[in-house]
Amino acid sequence: MKHQVISFANQKGGVGKTTTCINLAGALAETGTSILLVDMDYQSNLTLGVGLDLGPEDKSTGDVLLYPEVSFRETIHRSCIPNVDIAPASLSLSKVDINIDRRPERHRILHDKLYEVKDNYDYVFIDCPPAFNLLTVNSLSTSDGIIIPIQCYPYSLAGLNTLLEIIDDIRYAYNFDLEITGIVPAAYDSNTRLAADVLAELHTRYGGKVYDTIIKKSVKVAEGPVHRKPMVQYAKSHPVTQAYRELAKEFLKREG
Ligand SMILES: Nc1ncnc2c1ncn2[C@@H]1O[C@H](COP(=O)(O)OP(=O)(O)OP(=O)(O)O)[C@@H](O)[C@H]1O
Ligand SMILES: [Mg+2]
Repeated sequence: MKHQVISFANQKGGVGKTTTCINLAGALAETGTSILLVDMDYQSNLTLGVGLDLGPEDKSTGDVLLYPEVSFRETIHRSCIPNVDIAPASLSLSKVDINIDRRPERHRILHDKLYEVKDNYDYVFIDCPPAFNLLTVNSLSTSDGIIIPIQCYPYSLAGLNTLLEIIDDIRYAYNFDLEITGIVPAAYDSNTRLAADVLAELHTRYGGKVYDTIIKKSVKVAEGPVHRKPMVQYAKSHPVTQAYRELAKEFLKREG
């Protein structure tokens, strides 16, 4: 296996990080792949999206980062997807940046804590927030690979360039092993010429890094937060669900 720990990252908001993470995990789980989902965004969309409601006593990823005595194992819950566990987020994540800022190991707390559990799973998927803060740095410092969901608009390409530069900086500063697992065209609007042009440019610039599978824009995908489960569970035979299954197949093939 090439990349075991994978961050879903893009500094741009609303590009499909969480949706891709949930639905790829759902499709992979159908093939018997085990996954630990890690929610690093205080919006908690991943946590809510796999059906979890945290009680006041439940530990979250924020507690793991803030308090040395909290182990990663304590945060792990079953998700609504068989074979898939989740380390949930809560609002405590919003306190992390300021509170760990002076700790010398601030960029690698997640790395050091995740170590005790990651080998219990085939893959660990980390859902990053739409920002370059210490949460994203922690996520990328502990990842072997990055999946970048991108929407096919002209300005997305400029954003992707910036992201790749920042990934290079993180690679040199903290994690030389970090690689691009793949770029996913997400919420692709097949009715516009513009999207087709941008997709062609994406292939020209980044070639083999772009997945062949395209996730088209569909209201059915946007319903995910209402159902609070992946599409493989609420829309088993929808064409986009089938596309997520194709993406899972392509992912596994590329990962060898
Ligand atoms: N293929 C699609 N078709 C239609 N809507 C989609 C599709 N993919 C994602 N969406 C919708 O787009 C919105 C943003 O998606 P998502 O939350 O996955 O993005 P994100 O990058 O995680 O956002 P944030 O940066 O806020 O964390 C959501 O409302 C989601 O339901
Ligand atoms: Mg998100």
